[in-house]
Amino acid sequence: MLPGKSLPPREQKLRKPAKVWRILRPGIHVNSSMVDTIPIVPGVAAFMRPESRISGSIAIMSTLNKLRLRQRLGKYRIEKRLGEGGFAEVFQAMDTIMGTRVALKIPHATLVDSELLKSFRREARLVAKVDHPGILQIKDASVIDGRLVISFPLGKETLDDRLSRRMSLETIFSISDQLLAAVAFAHQSNVIHCDIKPDNIIMFDGSLMKLADFGIAKVARRTVHGCGTGTVGHMAPEQAMGRPSVRSDVFAVGLVIHRMFSGQWAEWPYDWPLNGHRRLRERMPATLMNWLRKALELSAAQRFRDCVQMRNAFTRLRPGALRVIQRQRRKTRAKRLDTATPAGRSRRAA
Ligand SMILES: Nc1ncnc2c1ncn2[C@@H]1O[C@H](COP(=O)(O)OP(=O)(O)OP(=O)(O)O)[C@@H](O)[C@H]1O
Ligand SMILES: [Mg+2]
Repeated sequence: MLPGKSLPPREQKLRKPAKVWRILRPGIHVNSSMVDTIPIVPGVAAFMRPESRISGSIAIMSTLNKLRLRQRLGKYRIEKRLGEGGFAEVFQAMDTIMGTRVALKIPHATLVDSELLKSFRREARLVAKVDHPGILQIKDASVIDGRLVISFPLGKETLDDRLSRRMSLETIFSISDQLLAAVAFAHQSNVIHCDIKPDNIIMFDGSLMKLADFGIAKVARRTVHGCGTGTVGHMAPEQAMGRPSVRSDVFAVGLVIHRMFSGQWAEWPYDWPLNGHRRLRERMPATLMNWLRKALELSAAQRFRDCVQMRNAFTRLRPGALRVIQRQRRKTRAKRLDTATPAGRSRRAA
């Protein structure tokens, strides 16, 4: 092949190098030679120093006392317990040097060993690479008083908490858009999340959201169960069978969006129409419903290729969908006004 001469289109397609997906899920695929080329962010570097000293032996105390409120942990003062997941307890704490509040994730001591620390370092480097406003970054990570302490920007609540209150259609559209943008960015960076669910979506002021738990929880789950999995009830069928792909994220995003519009969780085996369909039809124009249906296809091959494609389609359909919704609203309002006036009431009675 002469330099400068391009290949015929079919050959170009054949010779296109295969994408290497960095699945932030243990046991699947992370190309370590590539990981070594990723720069380390300062916060993560702080964590790496004690870890590199550990090299192979368990250096974290396995029996630790419960943390108390107002207890100091290095520069942090614990203020409140926010919750607990499968791998860690989460606290609100004050960074007494910066004067800002943070969320501190402290993995259960029994799960922390040198293997976990090594994997965490690798995963943290990958997360640092997915730098996007819709993705929750690690602020800092270090070993303090024998505990692994990971700090994050402090959110107001999770999307799961937010879902217990009424949401306007504008908010639903905005959160859907932000979620799609965040996952599309991860997919563009060849990173798959594998555990997209409302508990892993942290809400900030102004209905801004950030997707959390890129990898960290999954590193721990490998320690617990021998292999990483997503969360039952938020998982695509092929992921439940141990074959996650980028299209499993598409399905999980579809489930979250379906939940926001319909007010109900789609139930296994996810045959269309899903439960909550009546409400979904009331709130979602037909074009957007077809879009959602494509994301929730049982066969992964029939879904959007990734969230980039899914988001592009959403962006195209969104203005038209909003126009339909506004028209419907105007009609409902006019009908309501009509029944409220005496003339309207007698017209209806006749
Ligand atoms: N950055 C944050 N800001 C505010 N609250 C948070 C933050 N991160 C976590 N939380 C709170 O801590 C709780 C536990 O989080 P965690 O990620 O440990 O568990 P989970 O997401 O429910 O389960 P999993 O172990 O599958 O991740 C969350 O439900 C949320 O209430
Ligand atoms: Mg979580």
